[in-house]
Amino acid sequence: MIRLGLYGCGRRTQALLDALWKDEFYTVTRAFDLNKSSAEALVKKYSGSVCSTPEELLAAKDVDAFLISLSPLAHAEVLKSVIPAGKPIFIEKPVGFTGQEVFELALLAEKYSVPVQVGFMRRYLPSTLEALDYIKQHDGGRLLSVDCNWFHHGATEMNYCLWQSPDNFRMKVSQIPFHCCHMLDIMLLVGGDVKKVSALTTKVIDRPYPSPDDLIANIEFAGGTTGRFHYSSMVHYGEMSYRFHFENYSLRLEMNSHNLQINTKPRFHTSEWGPRPEDPSTNFAGQYEKFAQPRSINYDFDQMSFTSENIMYDFVKTVRDGAPVAANLRTAAKVQGFAEAMELSGKLGGKVIELDENGIPLK
Ligand SMILES: NC(=O)c1ccc[n+]([C@@H]2O[C@H](COP(=O)([O-])OP(=O)(O)OC[C@H]3O[C@@H](n4cnc5c(N)ncnc54)[C@H](O)[C@@H]3O)[C@@H](O)[C@H]2O)c1
Repeated sequence: MIRLGLYGCGRRTQALLDALWKDEFYTVTRAFDLNKSSAEALVKKYSGSVCSTPEELLAAKDVDAFLISLSPLAHAEVLKSVIPAGKPIFIEKPVGFTGQEVFELALLAEKYSVPVQVGFMRRYLPSTLEALDYIKQHDGGRLLSVDCNWFHHGATEMNYCLWQSPDNFRMKVSQIPFHCCHMLDIMLLVGGDVKKVSALTTKVIDRPYPSPDDLIANIEFAGGTTGRFHYSSMVHYGEMSYRFHFENYSLRLEMNSHNLQINTKPRFHTSEWGPRPEDPSTNFAGQYEKFAQPRSINYDFDQMSFTSENIMYDFVKTVRDGAPVAANLRTAAKVQGFAEAMELSGKLGGKVIELDENGIPLK
């Protein structure tokens, strides 16, 4: 059984622990939190003992792997101190707020041969896994474009923090690197590395919150694919959607309506044009659509529960079997560099920002 040392004992840590708690892949032996009562409550509910200092946690002999989940403003500094202990690490997103600082942590982890898994859990949603698997199994030809929307009524998050939790870290971080990093991770998974970004941002409401209220970015991927990312907290409904347009099929993922739709290009000339295209009565659109019928899959269940299960099982396989990490710190550096480039471009009025091969914006 894997003996976990917890750095941070908040809500997310508990959700991750709960995911596979009864499978006895892991147990808690040590826990540290700045707020000692959180650590005490956690070990009472699960198991283990409270460490009074981070040093005590890092030196503990009865820890096989660390789980770090804190205010994201503390992640990078804490991770830097945990890597030299030489044990596998799971760290929540975002690891940091610039591509450069996360890339340096990736190099540090490689120096100590420490596998670090980052909590990009939206890649583990059943519908996302199905889309990624479809792309892997079916030759799409050239990927033409990647087009993604992240819309929400941002006021609700603000309202909660302002009224119930004014010191909450959510008030101090921008949604693009903090929350949208999940979507950016999937854009990079499908689209590959980003070469250039330019973005325009809008701030509508004067409030103590670093997020832009609206951001639209045009993207050029290194492989020649074009892309667009639109974030808005000024939309009065929720939408989280992905469009991947390949030469041979188009994929639509709608996270709010829990739907994956795949439309394929007709396979043969006859299916595309009909048997007698020279006949003036041929209905070309109707003919095409007969063979581009969508395959539509609905996921009318709580997909989110699967993400914690899937991500924790991946971590178990890394620690127990030495399996490679899917979303590691190099991935995280590219994701955070992508977010950073978009916000930087927005601040500079839409200036084109180029990124290097590690995903770090060139300023
Ligand atoms: N991947 C996901 O889907 C997902 C979902 C929710 C939260 N998260 C991430 O998990 C992290 C924690 O979120 P949460 O909702 O559990 O927050 P939380 O406030 O419930 O818990 C954070 C805990 O960290 C402790 N802490 C903060 N800074 C610390 C430090 N320097 N040293 C030790 N302890 C410290 C706090 O006292 C608190 O107990 C965030 O970074 C968030 O982005 C990820």
